Amino acid sequence: MKLEPIWNIKTADISFKSLDRKISVDVAIIGGGITGITTAQFLSNYGLKVAVLEARKVGQGTTGQSTGNLYALTEFSLQELKNKYDLATVQKIILARIQAVEHICDNAKRFAIDCDLKTQPMFMFEKENGMDIEKEIEVLSHTGLAYSRLTKKHFPFPYEDGFVVEDQAQFNPLRYTEKLAKQIYSDTCEIFEDTCVSDIVEEDEFLIVHANENRVKARYVVHATHTPKGLLVQYHTTLGPYREYGIGVKLKNNNYPEGIFWGHFGDKKFSVRTYGLPSNPYLICVGSMHKVGQAGDNTQNIQELEDFVKKHFDVESIIYKWGGQNYKPADLLPYIGQKNAGSNEYIATGFATDGLVYGTLAAKIISDEIAGLKNEYSELFKASRHQPLKAAEKFTKENINVVGKLVGDFFKKGEDEQIADLLPDEGKLLQYEDGKYAVYKNHRGEVTALSPICPHMGCTVNWNKAEKTWDCPCHGSRFDTAGRVIEGPALSGLKKIENDK
Ligand code: FES
Repeated sequence: MKLEPIWNIKTADISFKSLDRKISVDVAIIGGGITGITTAQFLSNYGLKVAVLEARKVGQGTTGQSTGNLYALTEFSLQELKNKYDLATVQKIILARIQAVEHICDNAKRFAIDCDLKTQPMFMFEKENGMDIEKEIEVLSHTGLAYSRLTKKHFPFPYEDGFVVEDQAQFNPLRYTEKLAKQIYSDTCEIFEDTCVSDIVEEDEFLIVHANENRVKARYVVHATHTPKGLLVQYHTTLGPYREYGIGVKLKNNNYPEGIFWGHFGDKKFSVRTYGLPSNPYLICVGSMHKVGQAGDNTQNIQELEDFVKKHFDVESIIYKWGGQNYKPADLLPYIGQKNAGSNEYIATGFATDGLVYGTLAAKIISDEIAGLKNEYSELFKASRHQPLKAAEKFTKENINVVGKLVGDFFKKGEDEQIADLLPDEGKLLQYEDGKYAVYKNHRGEVTALSPICPHMGCTVNWNKAEKTWDCPCHGSRFDTAGRVIEGPALSGLKKIENDK
């Protein structure tokens, strides 16, 4: 089984050079996923000079770890949204998301991007009281989406009740983003890979973005990194960082179901779809979510997906497995727009598991705002909004959890084994007389010891057994075994301990 997302099956084999000089632009966009690349597209169409700064490779962060589904609904049920807001808001959210999906489809057509885009029905169903379908349909009936009640005929899962929404879509998100990046690249829309931002500072009326020992001078900065970089406490404390997993599976009988399937089984949710050429299809299953850095043994989460697929399909082999991150907003809506009133920094975060569509929507809203154009969705998703009543319950839950992690509860009695006990390719938090260490042993027996203290706000990282990373349970920063930042708000890596234990 390969530890990589299924989308890598069809990368565009495109690369961009890293930042190797000082430059000046109108807008510096941090992050080269679907949000950053689409923002660059809109802004350069508006005649602005932009630079995209991607820490790794375009599309290979969260975009390339998603489900590839494009839909008008959201992770949060229509009932939840209506109860928190009102019907008119739900209708507006749906309309905004439909328009974002249309933009993706237009791009794919206009640039002839071979990203396996196709229209699909989206099936929503429940078993073991997983969802109140009756109430969901009651709201759905006012959204303008074409839907019908599910019938049990030819359905691949057992269920109690459900519905199907027509004309949703799916694609290869990595391929789409890579090819879009290639299309928009120009002298005035530069894209830099392997370009890690280490700081953003104000200098007169400009923002200076430090990256790769160089600097980008910009009038505006867009944080298109899934969660904003640096110490933006008002956002990091209202977002819950979660990790979920995906597997790509070969079936014995070639009986691959067509459609997007969201099954609510009690308190568990699984997303299933087919991907690939008719001659080489895979079944994808995504789910088994947990808070970042808090799973204990997360190989069990991947096992849960395997068990689920094996229960419902005739599985030949499991070829791909991967993890992806999402940030849940406290009041169920993403934060899009100015960091705070009057700021020249823009935020796009809190997409939950709906980031391909919300990321595209965010690109349009932010670009319009920077260009001084009115956008009908700005107010609804305004990043600087503060809705204490709407966010209160979830905010309190997320932060009680964070406070627990700030005191370092992973150093429990009994976790202080000797390095000799570490297995190859294993990491563990070890406690010695002079301090605490995040220790990793590779296949050759070489040991790397790091400070376990997350440089973002000082929480203690935890070992991610399935993906071999150090993950911070507070705001979702993740680090590789050498301590380098993979994702999350941290701007610097875990400190290396010089005399490796
Ligand atoms: Fe905030 Fe680690 S991500 S303390």
